[in-house]
Amino acid sequence: MPVVAVIGAQWGDEGKGHIVDILAERARLVIRYGGGNNAGHTVVNRQGTFKLHIVPSGVFDPATVNIIGSGVVVDPAVLLREIADLETRGISTTRLFISDRAHVIMPYHVMQDQLDEAARGEAKIGTTGRGIGPAYADKMTRIGIRMGDLLHEETLLRRLRQALDVKNRLLTTLYGAQPLSLHETFLKYLEYGSKLDRHVTDVHPIVQRALEKDMPILLEGAQGALLDIDHGTYPYVTSSPPGAAGACQGSGIAPSYLTSVIGVCKAYTTRVGEGPFPTEVDGATADTLRQIGTPWAEVGTTTGRLRRVGWFDAVMMRYAARLNGIDTLAITKLDVLDTLPRIKICVGYRRNDTELDYPPANNAVLSQVEPIYEELPGWQTPTTAVRSFDRLPAEARAYVARVCELVGVRLGMVSIGPAHDQIIEVNRVI
Ligand code: IMP
Repeated sequence: MPVVAVIGAQWGDEGKGHIVDILAERARLVIRYGGGNNAGHTVVNRQGTFKLHIVPSGVFDPATVNIIGSGVVVDPAVLLREIADLETRGISTTRLFISDRAHVIMPYHVMQDQLDEAARGEAKIGTTGRGIGPAYADKMTRIGIRMGDLLHEETLLRRLRQALDVKNRLLTTLYGAQPLSLHETFLKYLEYGSKLDRHVTDVHPIVQRALEKDMPILLEGAQGALLDIDHGTYPYVTSSPPGAAGACQGSGIAPSYLTSVIGVCKAYTTRVGEGPFPTEVDGATADTLRQIGTPWAEVGTTTGRLRRVGWFDAVMMRYAARLNGIDTLAITKLDVLDTLPRIKICVGYRRNDTELDYPPANNAVLSQVEPIYEELPGWQTPTTAVRSFDRLPAEARAYVARVCELVGVRLGMVSIGPAHDQIIEVNRVI
């Protein structure tokens, strides 16, 4: 039975929620495996438009079990708000489970993230300021607090005392900020624990049972392969592994179970935050790609920041596909290109007299490469009402085919709008 990872193949915001929302109807278990509320998934379905940050996109299907896996960092206040919003709008969260091994984003993580960014000045990363990096750092240095700890008064107090001992020294001495009160923080997080009690559990048996029963499982990614802590444009990356390896690690599913990896990419490229972006454009083309003035303008779901935009970068995508074993592409937002007379695809990088077909690790070098473009004719016809691949204009089909050829991966889906029925499926994996 399929165990499918749906991962972002670019710098995040590829439209993974949109794709997972479709596939979740066929899955019995959806696991969000990494990141935290730095992610923002806009899901438009029959029940309305939802902006999810932490709850898996499978929550809209009443028959699907949803898990927030151990690889996720959870801000309980944000999660409680999201659950309350879903419940108010008639979406049940009774089948939502949170791994007791997932780490908690504490208030000092958010403070540290924002203070660190301010201190970096010109060298800022452009983080979402949600405490993600410091929470993962504490997980690794083993002073993190886990969701299960919130359910045990004694453990929480002990772990929090240890953590605050370090954090308050850091906040007051290094940043000149106010220390946090042990008592108040303890009571607040104990209350979060009691409110989330029915969701927090050891998810290992649920996951293993689903595997034993051959249930279709979706592993829902956040961020994107190019923001990967190891393989992304470091240090302009997030602090977790958002790709296929992270999907296994963060969900507790062995790699040998994976039957498919769907890489979600836009028909062009966007990025929020700092860092190299070889195919970035500005001017009129950027305005078209950003769709300013429409409800789907390229503005970050989480931060409200305007996204940087550029042409499709086949060099980056091929790199992401190889590193993550992507076998199927889901290309989103093809309709954004509808009005363009000519469309560029970056097929290689030139540096001095050398051609590169994968991104170099050094950002200074990557920032200086000259993209080698291939130009394809646009279709200049609206595609949003098209419902089958064959009905797309010939130029649009040729564009999609060329993208897949350059990336070396077969086509799974193309989306031509944000609605549930605006996804054209060509090859099914689940
Ligand atoms: P952090 O994950 O908040 O630490 O941010 C690190 C980098 O990853 C910044 O450039 C963010 O803009 C970027 N980032 C993190 N999450 C997302 C996402 O869900 N979509 C797009 N970019 C993201």
